Amino acid sequence: MKKVHIFNHSLIQHKLGIVRDKSTGPKDFRELVEEISKLMAYEITLDLPLMDVEIETPVCSTTVKRLSGKKLGVIPIMRAGLGMVDGILSLIPVAKVGHIGLYRDPETLEAVEYYAKLPEDIGERELIVVDPMLATGGSASAAIDAIKKRGAKHIKFLCLIAAQEGIDKIHEDHPEIPIYTGSIDDGLNEKSYITPGFGDAGDRLFGTK
Ligand code: PRP
Ligand code: URA
Repeated sequence: MKKVHIFNHSLIQHKLGIVRDKSTGPKDFRELVEEISKLMAYEITLDLPLMDVEIETPVCSTTVKRLSGKKLGVIPIMRAGLGMVDGILSLIPVAKVGHIGLYRDPETLEAVEYYAKLPEDIGERELIVVDPMLATGGSASAAIDAIKKRGAKHIKFLCLIAAQEGIDKIHEDHPEIPIYTGSIDDGLNEKSYITPGFGDAGDRLFGTK
């Protein structure tokens, strides 16, 4: 399928520009990541299936629309994916949240799983795996492996920024999964950080450096 969707919405692009600025501190960084995630969730849910239901307004009976189809799940890749959850839940409060803990070994750059807690009915849910960065794609691919192993079937991947290398990795390992991103950046540096990127997302969100 090989689908990549880039959000060209002006507010998303404007806010991404502020996130990239190294002078943006943790409080603003957190708030902006949350706001961008909310805007992205608004766009990504554009065509969720609807059904007709009969209701009574204070005036008369009428037919209105209501969401139908599969229930949703949000799967943040820890740590940095946590910063995207509240923005998405503010629009979709009934979504369940599953957590996958992965870190990228600084020597080997391999993703190492340290935590997994997922909704029991994961196989029936439409899942959005979230992480602000898709760099080499190692973490996202391993997270998707981990949730597929536990029964996940319907998966989208949502990030703030991506490198082409990460997109290629997901396409190779999980060709059926659509990728949604605010940008495809120029590439990766020698530490496999996205360039221009926005640095270490986890550290900037949580003020750990
Ligand atoms: C960052 C980021 C992704 C990963 C992307 O997490 O949030 O999960 O790196 O890199 P990749 O595509 O090359 O795998 P990191 O490993 O720094 O952990 P953290 O979120 O705990 O800071
Ligand atoms: N992890 C980050 O936090 N930033 C990058 O640019 C790449 C991986």
